Amino acid sequence: MEPSSEDFIRECQSSKLAKVISRNSYTHWGELTVYMRVGPRYIDGVKHDRVIDIANVQAKHTGRGTFKKFVKFLRDTFPEYALYVESVLTDRFSDGLLRMGFTLSKVYSNCFYMLAVIGDFQEDHHERRARIQTRATKNRD
Ligand SMILES: CC(C)(COP(=O)(O)OP(=O)(O)OC[C@H]1O[C@@H](n2cnc3c(N)ncnc32)[C@H](O)[C@@H]1OP(=O)(O)O)[C@@H](O)C(=O)NCCC(=O)NCCS
Repeated sequence: MEPSSEDFIRECQSSKLAKVISRNSYTHWGELTVYMRVGPRYIDGVKHDRVIDIANVQAKHTGRGTFKKFVKFLRDTFPEYALYVESVLTDRFSDGLLRMGFTLSKVYSNCFYMLAVIGDFQEDHHERRARIQTRATKNRD
């Protein structure tokens, strides 16, 4: 059986490679089945170290507030993680995500995010490229 969303996120959190690779799994949270990726990812050209990416989600019984409770649980329990919801296909869910406080991605029109509540590490991709180039030059010289 798939792990609970909480157990999976905690396991990813404790990994030594947490800042380098993202891991994915089917998880469950009550009646929700959530396919999630946990780890670093770019959001609109900015790298974030800690992102809970909901790649797919399904409620057993829809419209009972379960997903909203799940978002509240994630914000309360993992405030240092940004949330990202991928590939939302219906206008209904898109509108609901905006009402919940998510922002529509500028890069991927059907993806939504919410930045971390605290301590989010962000690095613009231009800054990152400059940092990598400086390091490569130092190592070469
Ligand atoms: C989308 C889904 C995961 C939301 O979970 P939920 O527990 O039903 O959601 P909640 O009751 O907490 O409501 C949150 C939002 O979900 C959306 N929603 C609720 N019922 C929905 C339904 N039957 N179909 C699509 N979206 C729905 C609404 O936008 C709602 O916001 P609102 O109350 O401001 O209108 C769930 O409805 C579902 O499994 N739908 C079918 C599959 C699907 O569309 N998955 C999303 C793939 S990205």
